[in-house]
Amino acid sequence: MKIYVPMDSAATALGADEVAEVLAREIAARGIDAQIIRNGTRGMIWLEPLVEIDRGDGRIGYGPVTPADVPAILDGSAESLGRVEEIPFFANQTRLTFARCGVIDPLDLDDYAAHGGLAGLTRAIAMSSAEIVQEVADSGLRGRGGAGFPTGIKWKTVAEAAADQKYIVCNADEGDSGTFADRMIMEGDPFTLIEGMAIAGLGVGATRGYVYLRSEYPDAIRVMRAAVKIARQRGMLGADVLGSGRAFDMEIRQGAGAYVCGEETSLLNSLEGKRGVVRAKPPLPALEGFLGKPTVVNNVISLATVPVIFEKGAKHYADFGLGRSRGTVTLQIAGNVKHGGLYETAFGLTLGEVVNGIGGGTATGRPVKAVQVGGPLGAYMPVSKFDTPVGYEEFDKNGGLIGHAGLVVFDDSADMLQMARFAMEFCAVESCGKCTPCRIGAVRGVETIDRIAAGDPGAADLLTDLCETMKDGSLCALGGFTPFPVMSALTQFPDDFACQKEAAE
Ligand code: NAI
Ligand code: SF4
Repeated sequence: MKIYVPMDSAATALGADEVAEVLAREIAARGIDAQIIRNGTRGMIWLEPLVEIDRGDGRIGYGPVTPADVPAILDGSAESLGRVEEIPFFANQTRLTFARCGVIDPLDLDDYAAHGGLAGLTRAIAMSSAEIVQEVADSGLRGRGGAGFPTGIKWKTVAEAAADQKYIVCNADEGDSGTFADRMIMEGDPFTLIEGMAIAGLGVGATRGYVYLRSEYPDAIRVMRAAVKIARQRGMLGADVLGSGRAFDMEIRQGAGAYVCGEETSLLNSLEGKRGVVRAKPPLPALEGFLGKPTVVNNVISLATVPVIFEKGAKHYADFGLGRSRGTVTLQIAGNVKHGGLYETAFGLTLGEVVNGIGGGTATGRPVKAVQVGGPLGAYMPVSKFDTPVGYEEFDKNGGLIGHAGLVVFDDSADMLQMARFAMEFCAVESCGKCTPCRIGAVRGVETIDRIAAGDPGAADLLTDLCETMKDGSLCALGGFTPFPVMSALTQFPDDFACQKEAAE
């Protein structure tokens, strides 16, 4: 018998370690022949800790499990969720990037290979650099960190740059509120990221890679470091990648806790041991990146999607999706929602289908008021925009931003003036200080919103003007995108601003 208990940090925060401990004790006491495997999460966070029992006829789920439930689970008398693969939230997904997450033992390379791992890298090894880059371009993959820039074009720029050394840098500084896809894949299927980085290295001619991983993710750091060590021992990394005669090696670097270090140039400064301040672009990192050399900077999900593109072919991946948004999107559903978690699906579902259909509406049972999509710099989408399909261009047309595909749901008790204030305050706290519209503008923004709250009639126009200046004049997305949540709150929920004003009058 095999028993799966996630070691993902969301599951352990909900008591998975304690459950695993009691399971081990009970198994020993009862003399049961069973193996406990600490897997990643399936992404159904409301069911965590989700214990799966495989008696040879499929994996039967139990959750959320407490240590007190363990005896009944082992007796077979506990109520189960049935086969985990058949739970609708899971069964209805298109799992490409996350195909193995929650299924395999994250640090078992043989288990990884038995579930399709290494097939992509093996195929890439037989291709020329130009063919590798073309395959990524044909897949239609776009940067999943937020900007949605075509990955194939970025790789081509690096591949065609002449230099004695090039680098692959993975941005694992997942700082957006409500996002956890990067963490989940690194904890649940780390070899897929390593494989993606190795393919990127072969594609652009880079022999060295770094994962810039935020210090707030100690479990992911531990798992990734262990996975890199195993990959090196087993010849997946090193001077002769899988016997190809080509070299690629990588290491994990711990970030230092600043939101702005998720911005690629600031990240590169931090990686070089400097203060995490934004660099002006151009030059693009693709031409002058880490230590001044051509560098691919890609988000975790972008790189972790590369292996499946090579395993199944660019066309297979590109056949999913909507318009120019090809493949799958790894939605992270969070906030005040009934069924929160990771949901991978082809681009194209509407926002309403995601929030009400998949997420099941609010956890409080009150009506949804707004959904912030794309992190703290994303717009607040009102219910009237719930027919917007999840796609980069479709969201853009509706004043929204997909960003890293995190959704934070709010019910009708949310005060949108306070949410707008929070956005400005966040920018003021996290600003790197390099440019004036952001450094000074965000502080003035908080003061101006306080003036609106106090009933100052001219303050809303001033706020609009300030947001325009921040949008047009900021050097990076932190100052440039903060106006999205602020202005969406002001324009979509005017009552929340008017009420405060009336109360003051
Ligand atoms: P950007 O639009 O300036 O650039 C996108 C990417 O394409 C960059 O890597 C850039 O270097 C590259 N690029 C542009 N032109 C290129 C060319 N001709 N050749 C090769 N590469 C080229 O966007 P930026 O400032 O890098 O990112 C902004 C986004 O980041 C926002 O959309 C926001 O949603 C997202 N974001 C994500 C966060 C997270 O935690 N994942 C946190 C904060 C923001
Ligand atoms: Fe720094 Fe803000 Fe300017 Fe970005 S917008 S460079 S975070 S001061």
